[in-house]
Formats: sequence, C-alpha cells, structure tokens
Amino acid sequence: MQKTISLFSVVGMALAMTAGSAVAEDKIDFEKQIWPFVKNSCVKCHKPPYTDERGRKRKPKSGMVVTNKKDFMKGGENGEVIIPGKPDESEFLQRTLLPLDHDDHQPPEGKADEWTAEQKKLFAQWITEGADFGAWESDPEVDKK
Ligand code: HEC
Repeated sequence: MQKTISLFSVVGMALAMTAGSAVAEDKIDFEKQIWPFVKNSCVKCHKPPYTDERGRKRKPKSGMVVTNKKDFMKGGENGEVIIPGKPDESEFLQRTLLPLDHDDHQPPEGKADEWTAEQKKLFAQWITEGADFGAWESDPEVDKK
C-alpha cells in the first residue's frame, strides 16, 4: 500500500513539474491571447476620440485609450492602470474582478461582454510576466473608428 502511494506521488510530481515548465516557457502572447478579449469588451468606450454616426464627438471614457500600447500604458485620469509585475495593483484588471453591481466594475454592467474567469486569470498572468506587449503596437483598424 505504502508503495502504491509513493508511486502515485512521484507521478504527480512529474506531472506538476511538466505543467510548471510549460507555463514558464510559453509566455503569454498579448496579441494572440489577450488583445481579442480586451478589444471585444473594452475598446468600445476606451478608444481615441471619434465622431459617431450622428456627428457627435465622442471621447474615450476616463481619458483612457487602450487601442495602442503607448496610451494603454499611460492609463486614464487616475494614472496608470497596468503595473507590470503587479496584478493586484493594476486597475484595468481589478475593476473586472469587482462584483458586477459595484459602481467601479468594468465593463459597466450590461454594456459589454464580461471577461470569463479564464480570461481574467490570463490577464493577471500576463501582468505577472511583466505586461509584455510583444510586437503589438496599435491596431489601425480600431484606431480609425
Ligand atoms: C460602455 C462603456 C464602457 C466599456 C465597454 C468599458 N468601460 Fe471602462 N470606463 C467607462 C466609464 C464611463 C469610465 C469612467 C467612470 C469610472 O471610472 O467608472 C470608465 C473607466 C475605466 C477605468 C478607470 C480609468 C482611470 O482613469 O483610472 C478603467 C481601469 C476601466 N474603465 C477599465 C475597463 C475595462 C477593463 C473594460 C473592459 C473589460 C472597460 N473599461 C470597458 C466605460 C466603459
């Protein structure tokens, strides 16, 4: 019996090590893994000023533009929203984690798709890994709009 248990734990450890090293080697790719759900849920209200269909000038909410790396890192009226290495201090993530009915929750309730738990975890890990945008600089397609 004792033998069986130790064999299982050895296998378990080997599996855990394999999983750990896979994560360490495969750094999150912002453009492929993060940008799609930021674009889907956040860009609508956080993009450069534009004129809407009715000719009204629209400004980014809270002065925060996330459609290019430079502005994303600059943050909004209250300063930086992404602190590399510190998911707990990164407001861009923290607001998505607040209860849905909290005033500061983002995206505002019912206004855009919520990030899934898996996406929030990915975003946190991306910040922990240093918030590296890789080759991504901007998306002309969304910048234009
Ligand atoms: C329907 C419009 C809308 C969408 C979509 C939206 N936001 Fe916002 N956002 C706002 C408004 C309005 C404010 C300013 C009021 C406030 O601070 O809550 C704001 C402010 C913020 C701030 C504060 C910026 C600062 O100045 O410090 C953060 C961070 C933020 N949003 C993150 C997000 C994230 C993350 C998403 C996508 C998951 C998102 N927002 C999607 C409307 C939106």
